[in-house]
Amino acid sequence: MPDDKPNLEFLIEADGFNSGAGKIETAAWLKYVSSVAKLTGLRERDSIFEVGCGSGAFLYEFYKKGHRVGGIDYSPSLIELAAFAMPGMDFEVKEALETESDPMYDFVVANSVFQYFPSYDYAEDTILKMYHKAERIVGILDLNDSAHEEEALRIRRGALTEGEYERKYAGLNHLFYERDFVAKVLAGQKASVRVYDQRIENYGNNKFRFNVVIEKW
Ligand SMILES: C[S@@+](CC[C@H](N)C(=O)[O-])C[C@H]1O[C@@H](n2cnc3c(N)ncnc32)[C@H](O)[C@@H]1O
Repeated sequence: MPDDKPNLEFLIEADGFNSGAGKIETAAWLKYVSSVAKLTGLRERDSIFEVGCGSGAFLYEFYKKGHRVGGIDYSPSLIELAAFAMPGMDFEVKEALETESDPMYDFVVANSVFQYFPSYDYAEDTILKMYHKAERIVGILDLNDSAHEEEALRIRRGALTEGEYERKYAGLNHLFYERDFVAKVLAGQKASVRVYDQRIENYGNNKFRFNVVIEKW
């Protein structure tokens, strides 16, 4: 835990966006966060809840602008950091699947989290829970695109031999999603689902990722 209040750069690093293709600079992060606010039609007083919030890098600028924010993550050390950075907000150590609908928030989001889920059933159930927690909008952001799975794996595998790769990444396989995965899960719910390419300045993963914005009606 840092002695002083962590700044955004510190939170971005703590959430793992600090190396390789996944590196994101602070200025690029700020542009990304404000583009999400625009895409989702976020209003000045809207509350925001993040599933898999980590140390709260995604939420931090919204908190600074006066939005009420909250989040869950299964990492106790990251939740401790989020609570330290954003005092008075609602942070809890919990699995994504344990998302509760009460209290509801205007905007419920998960940024760069769904690739770590253990199964597609887990992802489906989490999407439905996020949908029920949201008053108006759900954002499922930075999803791994199944159309680029082979290329993404080839890059990740890099120069490693088959055996080295298995040892390094055993049990750490990312999930990849079809672009209509979320729309299929929410078929029959009162919602419109839009899909966008990922566009973060100098982010090496742009090509392999997409964003989904769900509006309830
Ligand atoms: C790449 S970080 C992104 C953190 C944050 N969303 C952000 O954008 O800064 C992924 C986060 O997902 C969390 N995570 C992964 N699987 C999870 C699960 N099943 N339940 C809760 N948190 C999870 C990790 O602990 C980590 O904090």
